[in-house]
Amino acid sequence: MKKFRNNLFGSLLSISTFFVCTAQRKTVEQKVDSVLRLMTLDEKIGQMNQYNGDWDATGPITKDGDKQNQIRKGMLGSMLNVTGVEHTRQLQEIAMESRLKIPLLFGQDIIHGYRTIFPIPLAEASSWDTATIRLSARIAATEAAAAGVQWTFAPMVDIARDPRWGRVMEGAGEDPYLGSAIAAARVRGFQGKGLGNTDALMACAKHFAAYGAAIGGRDYNSVDMSDRTLFEIYLPPFQAAVDAGAATLMNSFNDLNGVPATGNRFLQRDILKGNWKFKGFVVSDWGSIGEMINHGFAKDGYEAALEAVTAGSDMDMESRSYINNLSRLVKEGKVKIQLIDDAVRRILRKKFEMGLFDDPFKFCNKEREQRQWNNAENLRAEKMIAEKSVVLLKNENHLLPLNKQTKTIALVGPFVKAVRDNLGFWSYSWPDDTVRIVTQFQGIENKLGTNARLLYAKGCEINDSSQAGFAEAIEAAKRADVVIMSLGEASDWSGEAKSRSNIHLPGVQEELVKAVSMTGKPVVVLINAGRPLIFNWTADHVAAILYTWWLGTEAGDAIADILFGDYNPSAKLPISFPRTEGQIPIYYNHFNTGRPATSDSDRFYRSAYIDLSIYPKFPFGFGLSYAEFTYSNIHLSSSSMRANQPIKATVTVTNTGNYDGEETVQLYIQDLVGSVVRPVKELKGFQKIFLKKGESKQVSFTIDIDKLKFYNSQLKYQAEPGDFKIYIGGNSRDLQEAPFSLK
Ligand code: NOJ
Repeated sequence: MKKFRNNLFGSLLSISTFFVCTAQRKTVEQKVDSVLRLMTLDEKIGQMNQYNGDWDATGPITKDGDKQNQIRKGMLGSMLNVTGVEHTRQLQEIAMESRLKIPLLFGQDIIHGYRTIFPIPLAEASSWDTATIRLSARIAATEAAAAGVQWTFAPMVDIARDPRWGRVMEGAGEDPYLGSAIAAARVRGFQGKGLGNTDALMACAKHFAAYGAAIGGRDYNSVDMSDRTLFEIYLPPFQAAVDAGAATLMNSFNDLNGVPATGNRFLQRDILKGNWKFKGFVVSDWGSIGEMINHGFAKDGYEAALEAVTAGSDMDMESRSYINNLSRLVKEGKVKIQLIDDAVRRILRKKFEMGLFDDPFKFCNKEREQRQWNNAENLRAEKMIAEKSVVLLKNENHLLPLNKQTKTIALVGPFVKAVRDNLGFWSYSWPDDTVRIVTQFQGIENKLGTNARLLYAKGCEINDSSQAGFAEAIEAAKRADVVIMSLGEASDWSGEAKSRSNIHLPGVQEELVKAVSMTGKPVVVLINAGRPLIFNWTADHVAAILYTWWLGTEAGDAIADILFGDYNPSAKLPISFPRTEGQIPIYYNHFNTGRPATSDSDRFYRSAYIDLSIYPKFPFGFGLSYAEFTYSNIHLSSSSMRANQPIKATVTVTNTGNYDGEETVQLYIQDLVGSVVRPVKELKGFQKIFLKKGESKQVSFTIDIDKLKFYNSQLKYQAEPGDFKIYIGGNSRDLQEAPFSLK
């Protein structure tokens, strides 16, 4: 009974008594309806309104005391960027002073960790390890939920084919199949055993839709694409997120073929809430309802609110278009009350499922918050996940792993002693960051102890134009047995609004590599970045390259494990690496065209540049290991299949190297002739296997009809009889193939 005093029905005693007696027996839908019946129009609109929290040392939202009054009046359903048990409790207490005592929802961008920072999502995607990715989201959710957060604005499931776009770092790369598997894993990780548990966050798949296809890679830009590309490439990860139970979706800033996503009925009403039967709610992106005025799609906030609510945007993040206009729109008959009720019902449903009506303070537990603050187990998991995220791009003459007995090692570059630059965009600062985050220097020192002499020279800053520090770096290199150079882009150069036209290694860093290489010492390069960078000289001349992305709190220890052979790298690129910006967009699952270029010596009068290779610098799916894997004996259980008779494709993988190791076996399919043209290959399966040195394993994939389906000229999703090829291998370029047909 006491619990209920704190909730919606505590103040209205007679209603409360009725509710308490029947609540247990009611379904969530009945509970939602019974609340809805009590609400005034203004209270309903309040639930559709979300504000950012402004905090200062003296208490909650003191910069805008009016927000507190609005909460008290029931004019606010949710807040973002308010964390910590103390803060969320203070605001929830104010919500409990409102007439109906509807609890607030607290949302935050928990993108790759909260207290423990995990690798950026693109790095984690390189692991192709959905169990690991799920674990990372699980831990992030546990830590954030212990700090009063109930809802994360993640995962970002936008496909990205343009590395100039700063937000490639937040997603899973260019492929819809891999992207869908990872989207589902992240949703399941965040939501844990289900909403209602105190360690589960509501997930929010974003940005619906096609935000990753911004023209020219400029953030927030327009998107112009065919329905087929939308359905085949950009929507599948969203559908996978919905199927995995994502509680919410966020729409996006871009317009799609002329209609802003926020006001797009086709996307939100027809596809999401219609075809996919999504029962959660849609939150706008920050201010995106109001931004439809800038788009030239709405004259003012009144029209913007009308377009957005009609299109199916249920909650307004920070534009205040709903709170200022919806009531008038309803009273003037422009918006039917059923639309408002539908949006509010969706929001209340989640609040009930979260158990917030039973106990609005269930996420406010100081002791739990404290327990998660320094959780050593989470740090161990972070290190393991970081190791799985590092891609070995080159390893000539088996330079790696380095011998732990190496006497003198020169550590050169602007990232060797970097602290927060190990984390990447969308990570939180904590007062003890300098103690907690393991720098790369520390990691190597931890690994080697006093065995080795470590020489350090920064060489240059990240975006330096000066070579003044080169002499010291060259001197250190000369005195060393091996040089480890740590280079890259600043961690806030990727992320939201961080588009770059030039994605080369910044400043004079590549000049530094040349200068250090001139010493003739063996050089290992680590590249820290949130996107594929261009570093052709380094790629062509340096013996060993590890693409570390941004690895998080334990970056230094994870990198040291890989450098010195305590972990054998296993990651594979989830996105193609271009040779120049002029090659963008470059992606592996392109069409063949009428004049396909087949090699660099066959590219004239072909769909190719006359002055550039047809190949990316590093292809999708690529990544080496200290082991070596050979593929042989590809065969099919039958060379023809029927819709109801799947066939099996099998390949033998052998570890012919000197180390035990993990390989990601990738399956691609090509439909040779279709009623619409089909990609040269499409990822349709992958498996991770572990092979001891000398060991062989047979790996099999089932090819069923679903793997052959596509959107035909009528946009019907179906397979067409005819000829196909399957390809299996360790990346999208080096593959074994076999033909088959669908009867
Ligand atoms: C804008 C970003 O586009 C979105 O991804 C994020 O969740 C919101 N801001 C809230 O921070």
